[in-house]
Amino acid sequence: MYNNLLLEIKNNSAFIMVNRPDKLNALNSETIDEMKVLFNKLDKDDKIGCIIITGSGEKSFIAGADIAEINKLDVISAKSFSEKGQLVFQIIENLSKPVIAAVNGYALGGGCELALACHFRYASENAKFGQPEINLGILPGYGGTQRLARLINTGYANEMILTGNIIDANEALRIGLVNKVFPQNELLLRVEAIASQIASKSASAVSSILKAIKSTNEIPLKAGLEYEVSLFSLSLGTEDAKEGTSAFLEKRKPVFKNK
Ligand code: COA
Repeated sequence: MYNNLLLEIKNNSAFIMVNRPDKLNALNSETIDEMKVLFNKLDKDDKIGCIIITGSGEKSFIAGADIAEINKLDVISAKSFSEKGQLVFQIIENLSKPVIAAVNGYALGGGCELALACHFRYASENAKFGQPEINLGILPGYGGTQRLARLINTGYANEMILTGNIIDANEALRIGLVNKVFPQNELLLRVEAIASQIASKSASAVSSILKAIKSTNEIPLKAGLEYEVSLFSLSLGTEDAKEGTSAFLEKRKPVFKNK
């Protein structure tokens, strides 16, 4: 069904594997188009509570946008190229369920930017991160300048994007680019366990949490606190809130119906 993506569903979690191993999973236009279709579909699928994205093979998460395509761009086509990638990454960022990047090797250029658009990131010990666009005479166009500076800090973002240097998993952990580093053969199992933990929660609470935390990049604290009040009060109107609080008082495990 997809030429460049593999999909596996396990325990209410969806695993997406970018699958162009001969090109180190570089994101060509077709892959970006397929991601748009798949993420929109998974967003509407009530059986899926969490999504994991990784790369096929043992060497690469995603080695960037496809440089063969970039080589053919001019000023006009580069604008739509950049806008198209940014749109898909914004779909990911705004999804109603979390998307976790399981970075299993090179996450360069568009691959690092995709990881940045995910809600959080884990890495294998062999993972490598970088924004090497400067070496091609260009700059990141899928959100790298914006999200890297917001996630870590402007000093590290300036250094990574201006030098094009590649950092290893431990350095990525140290600067806050990833949450944890796992041995390569454990990465997917460990991320799967975290995804299934999240998928067992109330989907409406999960979705409200994502909206509230995302708003911190967009609105001032006072407005954010008001937004939290409205989301919190709406959450108390759900069956899941009654179930979660009753289950605590009755000393049993809650069974959420996502209502
Ligand atoms: N776009 C298109 N093709 C890419 C690619 C990319 N971003 N990254 C790797 N590939 C292709 C290579 O051209 C090569 O294809 P070929 O076998 O048809 O020649 C194949 O993937 C394997 O890559 P190769 O460079 O031979 O592997 P390596 O182990 O020697 O080096 C990297 C790995 C990641 C260091 C190197 O591929 C690289 O620097 N890639 C580009 C990274 C980049 O600049 N990304 C930002 C793009 S905006």
